[in-house]
Amino acid sequence: MKFFVDTADINDIRELAETGLLDGVTTNPSLIHKSGRNFLEVVKEICGVVPGPVSAEVVAGDHATMMREAEILRRIADNIAVKVPLTIDGLKTCKALTGDGTMVNVTLCFTANQALLAAKAGATFISPFVGRHDDIGFDGMQIISEIRLIYDNYDYETQVLVASIRHPIHVLESAKIGADVITAPPAVIRQLFKHPLTDRGLESFAADWAKTGQTIG
Ligand code: G3P
Repeated sequence: MKFFVDTADINDIRELAETGLLDGVTTNPSLIHKSGRNFLEVVKEICGVVPGPVSAEVVAGDHATMMREAEILRRIADNIAVKVPLTIDGLKTCKALTGDGTMVNVTLCFTANQALLAAKAGATFISPFVGRHDDIGFDGMQIISEIRLIYDNYDYETQVLVASIRHPIHVLESAKIGADVITAPPAVIRQLFKHPLTDRGLESFAADWAKTGQTIG
């Protein structure tokens, strides 16, 4: 399963990239706003740090303007994935862009039927938002299972990119279902490394090792 980080914070991205475990980055207009940076500048910087797909989102609502925005975005770097919303205009844009080899991430997906449409439009990634589903009292992960089943039924190559992840259980469930990618905030990715028994074990090993009076090498 690929790990993307959902942020436009270049410091977080650099730190996580150093682990060697980061496969890509997703941004959205809210994350760009949170970063306080110029959109095109920060996306270009991110593309230089992470060689994998970096999602940058169009903001227009109509197909013609989306295409113009996408043209600017895809010129930033070869690893740009243009992010489009799951609307009729967004999927028209998706079909046009993927048709000439541009990676496209279709975002704001909340049903398996929407994901089916995105696959038919040739999306590289579909981003179902699990956390926002949970927030309103539904089971976001159920949609991921349905999308996995449907994509496997028809051998669609669109990658299931689980988005709006809130906690490590979302990551675990995504892996069990067989999602292709998760994108999570930096804090959730850092949580994945942690367990209190790991910390406690390290402390006791360090204490016992000190008592041996030995060094390695
Ligand atoms: O980037 C899309 C998605 O991951 C947003 O997550 O936390 O704003 O629901 P969130």
